[in-house]
Amino acid sequence: MSARPLPRSFAVKSFGCQMNVYDGERMAELLAGQGMVPAADGEAAELVVLNTCHIREKAAEKVYSDIGRLVKASHAAGAAKPLIAVAGCVAQAEGAEIVQRARAVDIVVGPQAYHRLPDLVARAAAGAPALDTDMPAESKFGALPARRKVGPAAFLTVQEGCDKFCTYCVVPYTRGAESSRPWSAILNEARALVDAGACEITLLGQNVNAWTGEDEAGRRQGLDGLIRALDRLPGLARIRYTTSHPNDMSDALIAAHGEIASLMPFLHLPVQSGSDRILKAMNRSHTTDAYLRLIERVRAARPDIAISGDFIVGFPGETDADFAATLALVEAVGHAQAFSFKYSPRPGTPAATMDDQIAPAVMDARLQALQALLNRQQHGFNTASLGRRCTVLIERRGKLPGQMLGKSPWLQSVHIQTDAPIGSLLEVEIVAAGPNSVSGEYRARIAA
Ligand code: SAH
Ligand code: SF4
Ligand code: F3S
Repeated sequence: MSARPLPRSFAVKSFGCQMNVYDGERMAELLAGQGMVPAADGEAAELVVLNTCHIREKAAEKVYSDIGRLVKASHAAGAAKPLIAVAGCVAQAEGAEIVQRARAVDIVVGPQAYHRLPDLVARAAAGAPALDTDMPAESKFGALPARRKVGPAAFLTVQEGCDKFCTYCVVPYTRGAESSRPWSAILNEARALVDAGACEITLLGQNVNAWTGEDEAGRRQGLDGLIRALDRLPGLARIRYTTSHPNDMSDALIAAHGEIASLMPFLHLPVQSGSDRILKAMNRSHTTDAYLRLIERVRAARPDIAISGDFIVGFPGETDADFAATLALVEAVGHAQAFSFKYSPRPGTPAATMDDQIAPAVMDARLQALQALLNRQQHGFNTASLGRRCTVLIERRGKLPGQMLGKSPWLQSVHIQTDAPIGSLLEVEIVAAGPNSVSGEYRARIAA
């Protein structure tokens, strides 16, 4: 490696979950704080941060094709290769192996160490190795700059890491042990986000409903207490949270759904499978029956709540009967939306070496059947919302002239013809429903 000037422009590309997107925003703020400017769309940046995801093989492999593309593009333009930083969960999982496999990579930085990115950039520019996959005891958050301008719907990480060790999952290894950010740090960041333009905040955590902390008075609080405190924040109209684990869904949090108007009626509560045998092999530590009873209690507290989930098909040992049980559970719940994935064996996880790995063709067929059912449910949910009056937060421009796109309380994408600007909270009537979105008509404007 040879020395080169410090980069003047940067681009951060995030591939992963919402927390990965949040980390990407924080890295961009950090680099901007160093005087670097974000490269304009389509312009080559002198520093490219690939903020990666390790959850499935396809996601993890994507980074290598991206690195190849970056190198090729700079060659074609006759320009110097940009400094390339690999951040995120692949960085944590693969560390120095990344540089062995892709020599063009200059920096490797894990998700708990990215507050040190400016330092790593300086080291790499000086031609020195720059790898940091520490999980330091002191949290990165204290070392990050204040929030700047954000969109109307912002993310806020409140909890990180996971102690659940589902047998298929890399997150406990890439993100480390469960930890909750302190109460005051979260409220301060929420205030800063509102000042920076947010009127909706989604609280993020790998197990966000396991969040715990102490309030100003030293009282122990759970996520419900935190949501109540955020509900009192002037200018914050909507609160969401994701992702939750069924076992951490407390009575108080369920009750909060019936009591706090700013807490949106949407719950992403992954169950993964409808077969108790598979749930056990996954180490999910709950049964399908417990899950269904939980959903009933949530619906009793908030009847219109939209339920979302994640499903894995083709976990090792999954039989046709196990898969049929998953379809039956999906039928029983009725989803407003959901994500479903083919099982992907991940290095270092217990499931990767289990017997009875499922053939790809079987996985394909199961995924297709499950997605067909989930798509029908989503369309059904959208159709059932016809005639509903609800708020819509306008988040961006639509494709058609005069069209804007926003989100309903149930996280549906809503198309609407309006000249209301991004960030407006409108009262809307749902007048048309498609498989993936609905259309609304403007009724009134709401002050956030
Ligand atoms: N912490 C969250 C989600 C983490 S990852 C939770 O527990 O719900 C998001 C989703 O990816 C998981 O819910 C699961 O459905 C899926 N996933 C995780 N590991 C996977 C693997 N090895 N193969 C396929 N899908 C996986
Ligand atoms: Fe992964 Fe399970 Fe933890 Fe979710 S709860 S992050 S699926 S180990
Ligand atoms: Fe991917 Fe890491 Fe998120 S593995 S899903 S970016 S926690």
